[in-house]
Amino acid sequence: MIQDVLREPAKAAIFLVADVRPGSEASVRDLLADLAGLTRAVGFRAPGDQLSCVVGIGASLWSRLYRAPAPRDLHPFRGLSGARHTAPATHGDLLFHLRARRLDLCFELERQLMRRLAGHVRVLDEVQGFKYFDERDLLGFVDGTENPAGAAARAALAIGDQDPAYAGGSYVIVQKYLHDLDAWQALPVAEQERVIGRSKLSDIELTDQAVNSHVAVNTIVDPDGTERQIVRENMAFGSPGAAEFGTYFIGYAGTPEVIERMLRRMFVGEPAGNHDRILDFSTAVTGSLFFVPAADFLENPLDNSTSDGSLGIGSLKRSSR
Ligand code: HEM
Repeated sequence: MIQDVLREPAKAAIFLVADVRPGSEASVRDLLADLAGLTRAVGFRAPGDQLSCVVGIGASLWSRLYRAPAPRDLHPFRGLSGARHTAPATHGDLLFHLRARRLDLCFELERQLMRRLAGHVRVLDEVQGFKYFDERDLLGFVDGTENPAGAAARAALAIGDQDPAYAGGSYVIVQKYLHDLDAWQALPVAEQERVIGRSKLSDIELTDQAVNSHVAVNTIVDPDGTERQIVRENMAFGSPGAAEFGTYFIGYAGTPEVIERMLRRMFVGEPAGNHDRILDFSTAVTGSLFFVPAADFLENPLDNSTSDGSLGIGSLKRSSR
């Protein structure tokens, strides 16, 4: 069963990226097995506020936690350099993606997670995100409209036949972007709309799309006409006192290749040079990739233990590739 990725858009989120200290693998594995229970314990007191938590595991951590072969497409995030813009790769063993209708629920769950993880992890990045008015980001545009829903979302998310041992899993890429809001706000609204590819007030897609608009660059259609989709749950974050304004990008997909292609189109351009104009106002400062195991994999890692109690390949033995 897939982790709690598919949700109504949340109002609040916390994104936590951490490294696991050497020797702390068993404690982290135990915490991951208890994650669904902890989330239930915190969330049950506020039914209707939809607390959820998804965990992702980075390439550098996998073989330290589990003896099962690594998921086929798990690798470190590949940074990108275009003629004008760069997507840096930054390290991370674990990603926790907490969401709810209220920040206090995310905060309390993060507190409980950190109680268990104290001494075992080093937090590399911690961002509290929010939705700005009616589902907008800090550029002022409605963000998330074209997310697939229902069966299309499940199809976009799920690892399929290409890696049957990990069916029910997914991949996630996160990037933290900082906006130059002064430069953005100096643009007339009609020009901002050409950058994004949708109207600002009504959120309707423009019919005369510029080739380097964010929407045009991120619409990927295979030669057979199939659109390749991802599931996004971006959040605004910031600190006006420090003049920091950002968007935390998070995208899930059954293969990282779809998101990587979008990123190549954004940063390098297809053809090269046709970079996404959103980058002229937004700088990526982090970038990491994680595997999102199925919930039952996390809860039963010992199904794969060897007789000495250590973790082995067991039922997760991969079919030949
Ligand atoms: C600065 C960071 C970003 C901001 C502020 C942002 C904002 C937006 C907005 C406002 C839309 C239009 C409404 C919607 O359909 O959601 C959009 C669409 C989209 N974005 Fe982003 N985005 C960001 C980064 C990214 C990244 C890094 C990717 C992929 C790697 C991405 C992929 C997409 C896709 C696939 C769509 C839908 C395109 C369509 O089918 O119409 N975005 N984004």
